[in-house]
Amino acid sequence: MAAFANAVEPVEPIPETSPAERVAADAQAIGAPVVDAERVRDSVPLWFHTFAVAPGIYTPGIARDHGYRLAVLGANRFAGRSVLDVGAFDGFYSFLAELRGARRVVAVDNEQYVDWVRARFGVTLQGGAGFRAIAGLVASRVEYRRMDALDVHELGERFDVALCFGILHRVTDPIALLAALAGVLAPGGEIVLETYGSRLPADAPAIEVHEPGDVYARDDFVYWGFSPEGLRRLGRIAGLDRVEVVDELDVDGHPRILALLRAAG
Ligand SMILES: C[S@@+](CC[C@H](N)C(=O)[O-])C[C@H]1O[C@@H](n2cnc3c(N)ncnc32)[C@H](O)[C@@H]1O
Repeated sequence: MAAFANAVEPVEPIPETSPAERVAADAQAIGAPVVDAERVRDSVPLWFHTFAVAPGIYTPGIARDHGYRLAVLGANRFAGRSVLDVGAFDGFYSFLAELRGARRVVAVDNEQYVDWVRARFGVTLQGGAGFRAIAGLVASRVEYRRMDALDVHELGERFDVALCFGILHRVTDPIALLAALAGVLAPGGEIVLETYGSRLPADAPAIEVHEPGDVYARDDFVYWGFSPEGLRRLGRIAGLDRVEVVDELDVDGHPRILALLRAAG
């Protein structure tokens, strides 16, 4: 009998961290002692985010879409502000907001990723494990809540900035998610949103609908692809009249879109 007959066979190799992800990770170099950095890196069987835990030591994140988001995440976006990060996963953006001066950060995730990580890579994660490991390493005060992003009103507070990265295309009701976030914004607050884009014309008021698994094999949670005009209209329906599309680009063969959606002042 094979030695690992009871182990779950990975169905897709875990991709190597790319040099570009390491450059993005260096934006919040943690600089922990090597022994602590290696312990944290090795404590989690699969990382989504690449963290620079010590000089030359990185968590091997599988995400491929980070660097271009950093342009809208300077200190002026966070300093002195309250920040909500929905779909935080390992928390790269929550910790970045804290590092860049946010006065309060709340990270929310329903840990849906546990299912698709198991389906794609045959790895069973403990929900929130990567987040907690980094939080411990940097003595973070970010509050982590296992919660559906549609329920953020239950937090009972308002935020100056809501980060909504990589999640709008993963919810069945994107209008409800935008409305939920709009409902917890402070006056003049803003949503920084990044999601799956579309190859439809930019002015097409349309949303692409994906078949289960056709964007990422065995990942059944990618439903939508958004064009700029489609996103503008969704924002307006959710009460966010000022939608600025900041960037549209192709990342690792996938269209992505980055936008700012602002509440009335
Ligand atoms: C592709 S990851 C993106 C992680 C991170 N925001 C980023 O962009 O680097 C999507 C995350 O959203 C979470 N998620 C999906 N649907 C959610 C929902 N309805 N409420 C809260 N989190 C959700 C998943 O569990 C996963 O952690």
